[in-house]
Amino acid sequence: MEFSKPIMDIIKERTSWRTYTGAPLGQAVKDKVLALLEEKIESPLGATCKLQFITQEGLDFMQKRKLGTYGFIAGARDFIAGIVKRGDARAVEHLGYVLETVILHATDIGLGTCWLGGSFNKTGFAEQAKLGSDESMPAVTPIGYHPVDRRFLEGIMRTVVKANTRKPWASLFFDGTFTAPLSEERAGVFKDALEGVRLGPSATNTQPWRVVKDKDVDAFHFYSAGGWHLDRGIAICHFDLVSKAKGHAGIWRAEDPGIAKPEGVNYVISWRKE
Ligand SMILES: Cc1cc2nc3c(=O)[nH]c(=O)nc-3n(C[C@H](O)[C@H](O)[C@H](O)COP(=O)(O)O)c2cc1C
Repeated sequence: MEFSKPIMDIIKERTSWRTYTGAPLGQAVKDKVLALLEEKIESPLGATCKLQFITQEGLDFMQKRKLGTYGFIAGARDFIAGIVKRGDARAVEHLGYVLETVILHATDIGLGTCWLGGSFNKTGFAEQAKLGSDESMPAVTPIGYHPVDRRFLEGIMRTVVKANTRKPWASLFFDGTFTAPLSEERAGVFKDALEGVRLGPSATNTQPWRVVKDKDVDAFHFYSAGGWHLDRGIAICHFDLVSKAKGHAGIWRAEDPGIAKPEGVNYVISWRKE
């Protein structure tokens, strides 16, 4: 499926919605969402995952209760569950890429979403998705219409995790080594792709991604300073979608360049201009 507007606009528009109107998806919108879930979305992580539509429609009171979100989400009736083979960390990163792509498409068609990696009833959702014993469900997102304004409690949640702020460039992007911050000027035509990474969502908004621009060639080395495997997939997704939209062909490869790195920072993958 194509995006209807520039990907950077959609990245800027996406925000977590924890309040929903409860209105059912219109048939045409629902068809689009279901088509998205059927699409084979490839990622540089070279793994597989499954997305499943879960609705409260037709469920009895007890079944609906099991699709709980501990008060984090209000009014949602539909969800997308992300499913991977148990114990496969790359598949979780891949799911980060794939579900974020779907979330950006949902944003594009005016729907609200919210990554949930912790605040959902894993047992209840697993039961509803008929999860296999060799599968796990690292994340779900509600998907639906949201009101114009957030409820009071949601506003408080956003304040607590400082959801509207992001770390500055100098804390995230580096020039050749981790000791030299990368300026927007030095990023050149890749400025937007990196800005796309910076604006991405992450669990409790920790923004654990770090990127070092290669000192010699147009290559970017991705690292994570803790955070979740899902966060890594999301960062890779944003860089990939923006750089492709800008017409930069490149290849992703896990090939540690051996740059000295701070403690707690781990190499993930590199993008190199073709
Ligand atoms: C992998 C991942 C897991 C998340 N898990 C939860 C969660 O369990 N509960 C929740 O309320 N928000 C969750 N979030 C949403 C983040 O708190 C949110 O993305 C961040 O605060 C930035 O806000 P924004 O999405 O509005 O830009 C999660 C986000 C990501 C990327």
